Order: sequence, then C-alpha cells, then structure tokens
Amino acid sequence: MSEVLDRSLAPSGERKMAWAWRYMPLLQSIAADFDRDRPLAGLTVAVSLHIEAKTANLCRLLQRGGAEVHVTGCNPLSTQDDVAAALAEGMDVHAIHGCSKADYDRFVLAVLDSKPDLIIDDGGDLVGALHLQRQDLIPKLIGGCEETTTGIVRLLAMEREKALRFPMIDVNDAQCKHFFDNRYGTGQSVWDGVNRATNLIVAGKTIVVAGYGWCGRGIAMRAKGLGARVIVTEIDPVKAIEAVMDGFDVMTMDEAAPLGDVFITATGCRDVITPKHFGEMRDGALLANGGHFNVEIDVEWLEKNASATIPGRTDVTKGYVLANGKTVFVLADGRLVNLASGDGHPVEIMDMSFAIQALSTAHLTKHRDLSPAVHAVPQEIDTEVAKRWLNASGKNIDVLTDAQKKYLNSWGTL
Ligand code: NAD
Ligand code: ADE
Repeated sequence: MSEVLDRSLAPSGERKMAWAWRYMPLLQSIAADFDRDRPLAGLTVAVSLHIEAKTANLCRLLQRGGAEVHVTGCNPLSTQDDVAAALAEGMDVHAIHGCSKADYDRFVLAVLDSKPDLIIDDGGDLVGALHLQRQDLIPKLIGGCEETTTGIVRLLAMEREKALRFPMIDVNDAQCKHFFDNRYGTGQSVWDGVNRATNLIVAGKTIVVAGYGWCGRGIAMRAKGLGARVIVTEIDPVKAIEAVMDGFDVMTMDEAAPLGDVFITATGCRDVITPKHFGEMRDGALLANGGHFNVEIDVEWLEKNASATIPGRTDVTKGYVLANGKTVFVLADGRLVNLASGDGHPVEIMDMSFAIQALSTAHLTKHRDLSPAVHAVPQEIDTEVAKRWLNASGKNIDVLTDAQKKYLNSWGTL
C-alpha cells in the first residue's frame, strides 16, 4: 500500500502534472506509440526519481506502456507531497517530503518488494540496495537506466570492481540528456531555487561556482547573464582553462572563500566547502549545492559546531553563527537547491531527459542479453529524441544531398 503524506493533496498534484504534460510533446508522442505497442506489458518497473510533476508524467507513461509501476523518491527533500498523492491514485508510491533517513531507506526497499523486471534510478540508491540488501531479486531483473552523473560514477566504480550484476543504461551521457539537462536545465533551475529561497538580487554579486562540468557551466553562464561577477573553482586543468576562456576568474576555494557572496557547488565530489572556508567567508554568505548528494558543503560540521542557528527566509534556509561572530546561510540543507527549493528543471528539459528514459527502458525489453555493465544509450535513441524535439518545436534542418554524402566519405580529390 502506498505511503504518501496526505491523499487529499492529489488535486493540486494533478494540476501540476496536467500543466507539465501540455509542454511535454516528446512524452506525448511516445505515449501514442506505447498505447499501440505496449512494450512494457506484463513487466514491473521500480522507479527512484525526484517526485515532482514531470517525473509523475514519466511514471504514467510507463503505465501506458503496460508496466506495473512502483515509485519512490531519490532525495528526501525533492518529493512534492501533492504530486506523490496524485500519483498514488493509480500506482504504488512510497515518498514523503522531509522523511527521515530510515524512512527513505525503507521506501527504497518497499519498491523493490515489487520484484521488478526493470529499474529507473537517479543517483544509484536502487542499484545499491539491490546489490547490498536484495541480491535475491537480481536474477529476475532485466536491467535499468541511470539518470545522473553521480549515479554513473557509482556504476562505473561497481563495473571496475566487477561488482555490477545487471546491465544499466547510462542515460546521463546521452547527448540529448547532459547537453541540455545538466547544462541548461541546471543553469536555469539552480537560479530559480536560489531566488525562491532568498528573494535577493544576483546582479552585482560575486558568485563562486565550484566545478565547471556540465552543470557548473550552466550555473556560471546564467549567473553571468543575471549580471554577477563569477569565480570558478576546479580540479581539472582543462576545465579551468575553459572557464578562463569563457570569461570567468579561476582560483582555489581557499582564495575564493573571502570573496564570494554566493557559493554554489556542482562537482559530484565531497568536502568542497569545509570549515576552513566557512571561517574565511563574509558575514551573510549564501551557500547552495546543485550536485546530487549533500556532501559538497560540510553542513554536518556546521550543525555540530555553530554557536547558534537562525532561521532563514524559508524553512529550507538556515543561518549558522560561527565562532568569529559571522553567519553563513545554507540553502535547502545543502541538498540539490533546484529540487529542494524549486520544481527542478524546466518542463521541456525533462521532456527530453525522460523521453530517453522511456525509450531506453523499452530498449532493454528488446535486448535481454546485454552484459552486466554500463551501456551507452544507443545512438538511434539519441537521434530519435533530437528529431522528435525539433519536430515538436517546428524547427527544420537541412538534409545531406547524395553529392554531399559522397564528398564527406571521400578522400584524395575534392
Ligand atoms: P561533470 O563531471 O560534468 O562536472 C563535475 C566537475 O566538477 C568536473 O569538471 C570536475 O573536474 C569538477 N570537480 C570535481 N571535484 C571537484 C572539487 N573538489 N572542486 C572543484 N571542482 C571539482 O558532472 P555534472 O554533470 O556537471 O554533474 C555534477 C553534479 O551535479 C553530479 O553530482 C550530478 O549528479 C549532479 N546533477 C545535478 C542536477 C540537478 O538537477 N541539480 C542535474 C544533473 C546533474
Ligand atoms: N526533475 C525530475 N528529475 C530531475 C532531475 N534529475 N534533475 C532536475 N529536475 C528533475
């Protein structure tokens, strides 16, 4: 039986889902195909994703493909209780905003109790539980799809150690995923989350972005567009040069700590902003995280060592008074600020990411002999999603003529 906060919230969740669906032409077109082909008929899918309206539409799409769907969140603060309630009208849902770690872990195991044939993971919690607690379920599993960079990092570590026991499709590294979701999606939604939590101006501020990968680039680009001065911190020399050539200042976090008004981490790494940095920061500095786990900013240390805490503007912002008398504010408990303090990525972005999820899940059902490894999304799916996106946007592109194709495949003469 579903575990959600309050079933009476369903109408609000339903309204959010209907709004999002209107702007999800790719999922709409896949729904028409799924209604006809029923690629998931007779199969059970366990899902661990951020429970908000776009995700809920993906879950309903999987049902239209014939699947029995069991859903949990992938972060205790990203679940929207009204959406969870709406989804629970038609499927098994275990997700409550702000739930304890014990409940979060219990919910992950609850969806696995459905004995899934397929999984969709965001960050690797389903895969982790299957390998560490429910190995008995692995023989039935066809495979799964992973949504985010951090989940892929974990899967690749498992693959290297020969620990991974079923195929996982790397949705994150499809071009139509990370080019748009990680860069433009995070770029917009992180600022949406920060703005909702603070109601402060970005123009004229000094923003420190930790990590200049796909997400960091988007966050820095949009900060610049909003009129901020941007400092980037990196560990990769090539990414650091890219940031310099994109017009940003590059330095270490030690050097940036006293300069920033707002700090945003997007590294997928741990201990990026630590006690030595807190002590150097300006009074009132704002700290937010866009990376998957809440390990980038050492919030645990602040919780233990702050001389006092003060409430922020919203219930997910807290000020920590330090021994030097200054206060630093952490947004959204150091969890993904765009999802804990906002609605996640814009609808059109998740339409593309979830189109890849849906088509990759269907792909797994037709290719049941994949090895227990991390597999790239087939190029045909990436291309198909790009074509559907352009078609839905009314954009045409040129097509190579035979002479052009011949020219591009020739050598020696022009
Ligand atoms: P990426 O690998 O493209 O970029 C990460 C960058 O951080 C790299 O350039 C790396 O060199 C740098 N880095 C690593 N450790 C560092 C450190 N200690 N200090 C400074 N820089 C460091 O990854 P990405 O796709 O940008 O994803 C980053 C994180 O964001 C991951 O945890 C991912 O799962 C998450 N993510 C979040 C959202 C969201 O909605 N908030 C969306 C997509 C991805
Ligand atoms: N909404 C649902 N899943 C999301 C994700 N992985 N990133 C951003 N927004 C989302």
